[in-house]
Amino acid sequence: MARQITLIPGDGIGPEVAEATVRAVEATGVDVEWERVEAGAKALEDLGQLLPDDVFASLECTRVGLKGPTATPIGGGHPSINVALRKKLGLYVNFRPVRMLPGLKTRFSDLALDLAIFRENTEDLYSGIEHEVIPDVVESLKIITKTASMKIARAAFEYARREGRRKVTAIHKANIMKMSDGLFLKCCRTVAGEYGEIEYTELIVDNACMQLVMRPETFDVLVLPNLYGDIVSDLAAGLVGGLGIVPGANIGDRHAIFEAVHGTAPDIAGMGMANPTALMQSAALMLAHIREREAAEKLQGAVERVYAEGRHLTRDVGGAAGTREFTEAVIAAMSR
Ligand code: NAI
Repeated sequence: MARQITLIPGDGIGPEVAEATVRAVEATGVDVEWERVEAGAKALEDLGQLLPDDVFASLECTRVGLKGPTATPIGGGHPSINVALRKKLGLYVNFRPVRMLPGLKTRFSDLALDLAIFRENTEDLYSGIEHEVIPDVVESLKIITKTASMKIARAAFEYARREGRRKVTAIHKANIMKMSDGLFLKCCRTVAGEYGEIEYTELIVDNACMQLVMRPETFDVLVLPNLYGDIVSDLAAGLVGGLGIVPGANIGDRHAIFEAVHGTAPDIAGMGMANPTALMQSAALMLAHIREREAAEKLQGAVERVYAEGRHLTRDVGGAAGTREFTEAVIAAMSR
């Protein structure tokens, strides 16, 4: 029986990269059936709801989703759909593998970077609890709990053990936010104590950003609270070729949603030039998650082959191809 997967195409370049990824996944020969649901600006326009109930109903059945980016207005308007999905489904791990693709020329190409970012996904300043204390004074609450911090720390160390990684670095600002980041750090230290074979280090977030640019090869697995994880992920994406590349997975105890690090890229939406690599690599993570290892390797291998050959790359990574040409090249690479 076909494995059912919830597909949320999203906004902006979302439908373009989602369509490309669906084609690439299907070309692996894996037996999947997509349950297509809308969330985001398009859902609001068509259905009058940002996050319609059928999104949750579908994810309740399939437990696995592939999602394009969804738009969140700046400085007002509706709250983030991503935050709502992650909180409601308890997707406490945001895993972002940041790896250099073969053949791709970046300022750091010589370094064969391979970082694994574990971002806490449900709390911190993303709790969305803000209010105006008195006119012109607003307050935003940063929530850090022992439960969520222990979970993300354990996820990072478990990954490090399973994948034979050498080091986990916790990133914080506990010199200033002594209680909240202090608690996060305390949890990381507690968990680190159970994984004696893995080196554990800590860095203050500002220093970590500098070190990531100066010496990215000294990093291995990174564990961060939500906000620093969000910012550092984009910084790290910049090291390996940009946002068009880096995949992600939001994982909880029952559900998982796979999506790229990038947003809706309104500047290039509808122009057929978006790079679908990040969502394709997210789909490869998804296939591995549903134990379709062969299909995962086939898709990942094909993407890497297209990069190694370098003839059909999109503009954001120095090529001239559009979304369609890149996708055709990935599909063709599967049969070689
Ligand atoms: P963005 O990631 O959409 O774009 C930043 C830059 O990277 C732009 O120049 C864009 O053209 C480029 N870029 C991103 N993805 C690309 C791709 N696949 N191929 C080629 N170029 C690509 O970030 P921005 O502009 O800050 O955010 C736009 C919207 O996306 C906002 O509404 C934001 O809230 C939302 N967003 C949604 C996310 C999600 O749903 N997971 C994640 C991040 C942002």
